[in-house]
Amino acid sequence: MKFRIMTGSGRLAILLFLSVLFSFKFCATETSTETETEKDVDQGETILEDYLVCRTCGADAALSNFVISQLSPKALVAANETLFGKEVLVQILENPLGLRYEVVTSRRATCKRIGVWTKSHTWFPGYAWKLCLCSRCSAHLGWMFEPIATATDDQFFPTEKGFYVIVLSNIIPEKEVKSLLASAYTPTAPGTD
Ligand SMILES: *[C@@H]1O[C@H](CO)[C@@H](O)[C@H](O)[C@H]1NC(C)=O
Ligand SMILES: [Zn+2]
Repeated sequence: MKFRIMTGSGRLAILLFLSVLFSFKFCATETSTETETEKDVDQGETILEDYLVCRTCGADAALSNFVISQLSPKALVAANETLFGKEVLVQILENPLGLRYEVVTSRRATCKRIGVWTKSHTWFPGYAWKLCLCSRCSAHLGWMFEPIATATDDQFFPTEKGFYVIVLSNIIPEKEVKSLLASAYTPTAPGTD
């Protein structure tokens, strides 16, 4: 159960695409994220860990700071693994069609505003769910969960009692993207004169 990176031309394409997004994103979001995470600063620790971005378009999906360990009683496999530079609970969940997803849970995420909550086939008893789609490109990122009592039609996103499930193969840690970009650029040998 390890992060899989695309190989070959697919990888190259996404690198090129993300490199453009990056140069753009850095100017645009650096300041806003600083204020957003300010309230989480605890004891002078460096708090901004890593963005988890949509693997399809590079939009922010979540911050590794907010990854939690919400165990599903229906998990086929649950194990603590080192991801995003820390120990996190990784689970394998199966849907009624037999599709399996390797996931982490998160207190916060960025999803598109969609539809109504579903109460059946839930991986977390007592919680209703809906899909979490990328706010920019609508790619599937995971699911949102909310206690049934508060999962009303006018509650578009989870409250603080809810949480998010993020599919690892649908996101990529930004630090990983940066190191991929760096390695993609190294072939230009410097200073051979
Ligand atoms: C993961 O680690 C936490 C904290 O150390 C522990 O309570 C939990 O049982 C572990 N979960 C698994 C599935 O190993
Ligand atoms: Zn996207």
